[in-house]
Amino acid sequence: METKIIKINPQNPEDDLIEEAVKILKSNELVAFPTETVYGLGAAGLSKQAVEKIFIAKNRPQDNPLILHVCSVEMVEEIAENISPDAKKLMDAFWPGPLTIIFKRKPIVPDVITAGLDTVAIRMPDNKIALKLIEKLGMPIAAPSANTSGKPSPTCAKDVYEDMYGKIPLIIDGGDARVGLESTVVDLSNDTAMILRPGGITIDDLKKYFEKVELDPALKEGKEILKPRAPGQKYRHYAPKAELILFSYSSDMTSRLKETYDKLTKENKKVGILTVDENIDKYDAEIILSLGTVKDLETIAHNLFKYIRQIDNLGVDVILCEGVLEEGIGLAIMNRLKKSSGGNIA
Ligand code: TXA
Ligand code: MG
Repeated sequence: METKIIKINPQNPEDDLIEEAVKILKSNELVAFPTETVYGLGAAGLSKQAVEKIFIAKNRPQDNPLILHVCSVEMVEEIAENISPDAKKLMDAFWPGPLTIIFKRKPIVPDVITAGLDTVAIRMPDNKIALKLIEKLGMPIAAPSANTSGKPSPTCAKDVYEDMYGKIPLIIDGGDARVGLESTVVDLSNDTAMILRPGGITIDDLKKYFEKVELDPALKEGKEILKPRAPGQKYRHYAPKAELILFSYSSDMTSRLKETYDKLTKENKKVGILTVDENIDKYDAEIILSLGTVKDLETIAHNLFKYIRQIDNLGVDVILCEGVLEEGIGLAIMNRLKKSSGGNIA
């Protein structure tokens, strides 16, 4: 299959180009498109035949449910049962934006979306191209991140092309994704708000609206045996081709990293380092990238997947990556890095 890339203006999406993409979605084919978090691999969300193609293009396990993307609250009412006052509060506060909410599903939602669960994940993306596509299609768009399953999520059209070339007819290039990490997934079905996947909206953001915000126990380290409530959390994710070793954040982090670097280069390994502005001068390495300053974790989040792909594409054997403090969006950054490393934490 030939894969076409079209540029669409993210501030003021061109009608004729959106129409071209909608036509493809209506014929049950896939379109990759930008959102504010990462690029999505979109299909007409109420068409079983279209949604099945997502699993094939990504090589995604069938038991991992998908998010439906909406452009209005009316659209939520078409697919979700009993929208609680708490859910309304969150929708008001954070939509459009990087928050996915779990609802009881209506029967109109195909089983292939929910992987057999009686709930459906919904979010309204903060991106004009995405919103216009959904509106013109007239139904929710089902979209996981537009990467091959297991690889880092794509934050620009070029990253999507790397994974989806020859597998889908169209990629919309709407520039860099602003957040760079996926949405926060929150479940309100028990009395508290429970975070199933940390992301663009932080615990502190949610605490403004709930007395108590909990983390799914499966997110905590050493609890791999627990069954996560977001099925996707159990898979190896975001993995580069190279081995990635994550260095936990501490005062001796840079000296521990340096030691490992020296040892590996002596073994003739090609090693790359992912560091921060504050530490970049502490290393004497040829392949080294700074993700940004520790004073601005949003920028580090924005650069994370992009730079992992970039350093990986230099053909390194091992990537040594510094950890950050697990506060604010740092929790989401460390969640992704722990998975990228496959548990290889030094
Ligand atoms: O930012 C995002 O959320 C991006 C953009 C494209 O919107 N999408 C995304 O989708 O990250 P995906 O498929 O890569 O991740 C969806 C996550 C998975 O961990 C999945 O298990 C969880 O949401 N999920 C989906 N439906 C669920 C449900 N009914 N109950 C619990 N978790 C669910
Ligand atoms: Mg994903």
